[in-house]
Amino acid sequence: MASQPPDGAEAAVPPRPAVGPGSTAAAGIAELGREAAAARVPHGTDAMIMCDRLVRIFATDGVEVQALQGLDLLVARGELTAIVGASGSGKSTLMNILAGLDEPTAGSVRVAGHDLTALTTRERTQYRRKAVGFVWQQSERNLLPYLTAWQNVLLPMQFSAVRRTARGRRAGELLDLFGVAHCADRTPAMMSGGEQQRVAIATAMANEPAVLLADEPTGELDTETAGTIFDAMRTANTELGVTILVVTHDPMLSGSVRRTVAIRDGRTSSEIVRSHDADDTRSRAVEYALVDRAGRVQLPRDMLDELHIRERVRLEAEPDHIGVWPDTAEHRPG
Ligand SMILES: Nc1ncnc2c1ncn2[C@@H]1O[C@H](COP(=O)(O)OP(=O)(O)OP(=O)(O)O)[C@@H](O)[C@H]1O
Ligand SMILES: [Mg+2]
Repeated sequence: MASQPPDGAEAAVPPRPAVGPGSTAAAGIAELGREAAAARVPHGTDAMIMCDRLVRIFATDGVEVQALQGLDLLVARGELTAIVGASGSGKSTLMNILAGLDEPTAGSVRVAGHDLTALTTRERTQYRRKAVGFVWQQSERNLLPYLTAWQNVLLPMQFSAVRRTARGRRAGELLDLFGVAHCADRTPAMMSGGEQQRVAIATAMANEPAVLLADEPTGELDTETAGTIFDAMRTANTELGVTILVVTHDPMLSGSVRRTVAIRDGRTSSEIVRSHDADDTRSRAVEYALVDRAGRVQLPRDMLDELHIRERVRLEAEPDHIGVWPDTAEHRPG
């Protein structure tokens, strides 16, 4: 038992807390344990794409670049989601990880039920062939230049167990679906940029992937042609049921999908969700700030600047919302 301090001065020094059942310290440790356990609860298990605190650090010539800094993202089955963000914000880094071409430094990532941090080399190859399809900005990355459109679409199926007759039928159906049946016997050099990208989508869909990843697929096209590529992706989404994640700089394109997620400094920072009225005449866009699993919210810079908010804010819990107040004399309570 600790004895009573003899005078007031010593009483100001708090006694060292005992770590035993019922002590304050034990309660604190128990609380930390509960928090850690909660953090381990399976997260987004039914999502098609799940990124949990994804970190990717590149180290080149002794300089570290933190391309992803704890990125969280959940995409539901069948969604068509746009990703936007400034150059260098980490969009392609994320897409390369989701495509199985790169591995995160830390964090977890699951796509279509595959834990991408735990794949063997063989499983990774299978994952890239069957579970995901990708379309990149540069068409030379999407199509082999010496093969025709027909042969390009057939190629991924030759590495899978699809029967020869079924392969031919599917290649024909896909070229047809994306409006490029007339390019079947042409090599990429004999097609327009828009046709090349639509053949690239057909090729990416050949093995019926669960997820289609597209990194600026319209980056080298004019606006009108870009619209046709987006129509093709929407067709893939609605007709073939594939979940799509598409990086774009084109506001017209990001403005036409239901959900647009913004990445800033290697993290998802906000998202816009659009909905249509029942009679489909008016659409409504609502911007959300994201809450990460630790409860952190990134407030938009323009809102912070408007109210001269720095360092800290005062929070007030209201029955149906939380008030965020600047820490200035006029806003202090009492
Ligand atoms: N292989 C690499 N080695 C070193 N640094 C890299 C590598 N890949 C990307 N980075 C860096 O990581 C950061 C994020 O790059 P990333 O390519 O993901 O950006 P982005 O959002 O796709 O940009 P953009 O819109 O220009 O395509 C950048 O600072 C980039 O320089
Ligand atoms: Mg990029």
